[in-house]
Amino acid sequence: MTHFSAEDRLIVALDLPTIEEAEALVLALGPHVGFYKIGYQLTPLGGFDFARRLKAVGKKVFLDLKFHDIGATVEKGVRSVRDTGADFLTVHATPTVVRAAVDGRGDDKNLKILAVTVLTDQSPADLAASFGAGADDIDLPAIVAARAKMAIELGADGVVASPLEAADLRKQLGREALIVTPGVRPAGAGRDDQKRTASPTDALGNGASHLVVGRPITAAPDPAAAAAAITAEISRL
Ligand code: C5P
Repeated sequence: MTHFSAEDRLIVALDLPTIEEAEALVLALGPHVGFYKIGYQLTPLGGFDFARRLKAVGKKVFLDLKFHDIGATVEKGVRSVRDTGADFLTVHATPTVVRAAVDGRGDDKNLKILAVTVLTDQSPADLAASFGAGADDIDLPAIVAARAKMAIELGADGVVASPLEAADLRKQLGREALIVTPGVRPAGAGRDDQKRTASPTDALGNGASHLVVGRPITAAPDPAAAAAAITAEISRL
């Protein structure tokens, strides 16, 4: 796997109500964090300009937009995302969507397309309800594996998946694929609404290339200390 520094393997999810609060957190985290995820909460509030400012001060940016639309629309959307200088972008792991995202990325070598397989707050019962099936009919790891394989074959750079699925995915996808895992909870942290969680050590041991951590850092009494503890844990591996 390409070598990443500990600071670049931790991605802090900026799920905060305002850009001002996100900027204050970035300032507080300082050199402990080099990679930030901007998602639905900040995107409509000026998230793209914020992404450009983060890039201007040398941070990496993950735009977690989880595109899912007809191919032509996804392709145009990804072309527009290129303009922000973002490093990672998520799309859903549907063949037409992944193909269009790869086309939209074109020759931009910096922008990595990550396919979302199954959201980490989904249990087999949740998936069963959305397919009108019984929970016993749902083989969640098989669905994750099939979607991940398809996405990589179509040109995605990696996948977003639960840390519990990372070990199988690493075996299946090989050394180079990015495996980005939310649902990471340091020892002693609560699970919040995540259902498939693991510690940073276990997620990386399972083959994750990057960890996405939100509330265990953003809601910590001392966010810099919480981030530093995780990067220290990553550095020890
Ligand atoms: O606060 P927490 O650490 O649970 O944040 C996890 C972040 O990762 C959130 O921004 C969430 O939207 C995102 N995410 C996820 N599961 C996925 C993809 C993204 O939890 N499959």
